[in-house]
Amino acid sequence: MAENCVVILAGGKGTRMKTEHPKVLCQVLFKPMLSWVLDACATAGLPAERTCVVTGYQKEAVEALVVSKDPRYQTVFQEQRLGTGHAVMMAESFLAQNAGGNVLILYGDAPFIDPQTIRSSLAVHQQNQNAVTVVTAELKDPAYYGRIVREGDRLQEIVEYKDATEAQRQIHEVNSGIYWFRISALQKALAGLNNQNTQNEYYLTDTIRILRESGEKTEAYRTENSRVILGANSRTDLLALNETAKQQIISQHLENGVEFVSLDGVLIGPDVVIGPDTCILPGTILRGKTVIGAGCTIGPDSLLEDTIVGDSTILNSVQAYQSVIHDHVKIGPFCHIRPNSEIKSGVKIGDFVEVKNSVIDESTAVAHLTYVGDSDVGKRVNFGCGVVTVNYDGLHKHRTQIGDDCFIGCNTNLVAPVTLGNGVYTAAGSTITDDVPDGALAIARSRQEIKEGYAYQKLGDKIRRNKK
Ligand code: UD1
Ligand code: CA
Repeated sequence: MAENCVVILAGGKGTRMKTEHPKVLCQVLFKPMLSWVLDACATAGLPAERTCVVTGYQKEAVEALVVSKDPRYQTVFQEQRLGTGHAVMMAESFLAQNAGGNVLILYGDAPFIDPQTIRSSLAVHQQNQNAVTVVTAELKDPAYYGRIVREGDRLQEIVEYKDATEAQRQIHEVNSGIYWFRISALQKALAGLNNQNTQNEYYLTDTIRILRESGEKTEAYRTENSRVILGANSRTDLLALNETAKQQIISQHLENGVEFVSLDGVLIGPDVVIGPDTCILPGTILRGKTVIGAGCTIGPDSLLEDTIVGDSTILNSVQAYQSVIHDHVKIGPFCHIRPNSEIKSGVKIGDFVEVKNSVIDESTAVAHLTYVGDSDVGKRVNFGCGVVTVNYDGLHKHRTQIGDDCFIGCNTNLVAPVTLGNGVYTAAGSTITDDVPDGALAIARSRQEIKEGYAYQKLGDKIRRNKK
């Protein structure tokens, strides 16, 4: 693959999407369409430094995504969007740098291009020494896609729907927008493009006719995987892509031994990994680079983003972001695990607990109504109900350190920075501001006072009468 390169067209505004953002940043299962395309190329073995994205509308936003994935990606800017052929012309110097090889051209608004199609279409392209190989599919409803006009088994031309005759519109084989070109042939054909068509655009698709007329070999490679063709030009299309992706991803997880009782409200992103015998319950959204081990129960009503979960863990109504949760952990219901947290094996976290930027070591229990922020908590610690780590002084965040085997009484405030040694007790209702040494009890509340008869005196007969 190394001698080949890629150009991805991503300049479109997406007028029909009615979005403020560039169309290629619209998401399918929480992942921008352009990321789907870039990842497929990378998986097929096409290197980032030989991948060029043509930006246009809101180029900064598109560049930001591309660079965040890999700073070696190239970008070029198409100032005016004069058509797909014009967009490829913007990559002229990129093509010149990669002269001698082949270029894969893809559209950033068609996310289902897969590594298999990239590889097998290249194999055909190289074997038959084609100037261009266009990936096509046979569709029941060819809609507004460009029509593939064949002459025997050769590809004669691609006619855009708007320019097609009635007879051509009856053709069911359509252009996917995936092409392999010999770079030298593409450079020649681009020079011959014009915009004499109903849309006054420079169509990339016209290069086929130009190459054919100059005696070059042009081939249509019909794929069985007609999903690769699906693009999104409207919100309705985008919803349809989400549905298609959802079904396909869930089938894959079923194959791998993941259990679903019902698919109601279940959405799983394309890069999520789930082990066998894990059960995903309704209302569960798994996205980003989430990885879940075997034998877990996730849900109902849980959301995990970029979170690593071990084996045999139960997450019930949990939201977790950019965190690591180990084996045999039980969390929920109604817990929030915020970024940069690590919950070690055997930990139990109960209802209405929030954890942020903290490590909770093995077999610790945080049963109810507790906030653990910016903290390092040891093993086998027991948190009473209503404990708060007071991590923010209005200007800065500070850490709380808690040793092993501590018992934090109910409603303890731990005013950070503060350190509790091993085996420390804090009395219920204490506000701990000073460090506590190993094995000590810290009481930080005023001592109880009894005022005999006070209430009788104040309320007099009222209480005595009710008592009878
Ligand atoms: C294009 C094809 C059509 C094919 C279909 C498959 C052409 C002329 N037509 O039509 O044969 O069936 O895709 O989805 O190529 N773009 C730019 N700059 C431009 C114009 C477009 O970057 O000046 C980008 C768009 O952002 C988009 C892609 O190129 O990602 C395709 O453009 P679009 O206008 O959506 O082409 P279609 O009309 O869908
Ligand atoms: Ca399109």
